[in-house]
Amino acid sequence: MRKTVLSGMRPTGILHLGNLYGALQNWIDLEKENYNRFYFVADWHALTTGFDDANNILESTINMVIDWIAFGLSPEKNTIFIQSLVKEHAELFLLLSMITPVGWLERVPSYKDQIAQLGKAKTSNYGFLGYPILMAADIIIYKAHYVPVGLDQVAHLEFTRELVRHFHNLTQTNVFIEPQPLLTKVPKILGLDGRKMSKSYGNAIYLSDSEEETAKKIKVMFTDPRRKRKTDPGVAEECGVFMLHKIFTPKETQNEIKDACSKATIGCVECKKKLINNLNSALNPVREKREKLLNKKEYVKEMLTEGSKKAQDVASKTLEEVRDAIFSAKRFRKA
Ligand code: TRP
Ligand code: SF4
Repeated sequence: MRKTVLSGMRPTGILHLGNLYGALQNWIDLEKENYNRFYFVADWHALTTGFDDANNILESTINMVIDWIAFGLSPEKNTIFIQSLVKEHAELFLLLSMITPVGWLERVPSYKDQIAQLGKAKTSNYGFLGYPILMAADIIIYKAHYVPVGLDQVAHLEFTRELVRHFHNLTQTNVFIEPQPLLTKVPKILGLDGRKMSKSYGNAIYLSDSEEETAKKIKVMFTDPRRKRKTDPGVAEECGVFMLHKIFTPKETQNEIKDACSKATIGCVECKKKLINNLNSALNPVREKREKLLNKKEYVKEMLTEGSKKAQDVASKTLEEVRDAIFSAKRFRKA
């Protein structure tokens, strides 16, 4: 039997290089493997901490999916859908919430982290506490074996596995699969200021940036602080500019740059110029595709509706098994 991979992103709108080369590239690489593939927009998850700006969610959803497709995720090879269009996620969330000890939820590391970051006011709602249950439902409703995610999501996967075991114990069934995180190596991508590239830091390069905007951003990007003067040697491996070269520049040239940086025979201005050229030629076709899709939002919406129907076919079958397992009668089954 073919195994299943699934992953999701909250609808953050336009994506930056960190999202694209960190997460999305892994999804695209998985197209080579023989899996069933599901990728979705976790729009209900966006409500857990942002009920007040819910009116942006639909637009952010469409913009994000446009970036997915423009960057190369294939709507033919993958089932791409929206969480809120598959109501079965909500039913499974509800049923799972009946068996989840509150203490388990309070012990998920991101729970305390997020409260510290966002404050009590934004995180005192029940749905926020239940975030991991909804995520577990998202995954196990498709019986996914593998979930490509970043390190920050591993605790959520562990929670999901525990919840699956708990459900199986309580119902003496074997409905679900215990999902494994798929931790692929991701390139380190720093923002313009040398911190991690992040929308909230305002230090990111977006697919929506033009060639000129991209060039401007690279020109002000932090380099290795050892290179105060052009004659000071540097360590390319510790420079955010070089980290981008590692993605966009042929290996040979990378090695030349690394060497020249350590001997101060190349200046940062010249080094950045090379990066700007390579970055722009890699992104240009993606930008073009993105522009086209922005004029075809109806197509994108239809694709998402289609994908959501396909997802629902799978999800509703699982739900039948779940109802059977819980109520051990087939009275909810349609004739
Ligand atoms: N929690 C994930 C994030 O913040 C998004 C998400 C929701 C997800 N449901 C999921 C990821 C299911 C993988 C599988 O990035
Ligand atoms: Fe970074 Fe390039 Fe300057 Fe070296 S020469 S510090 S790699 S920008």
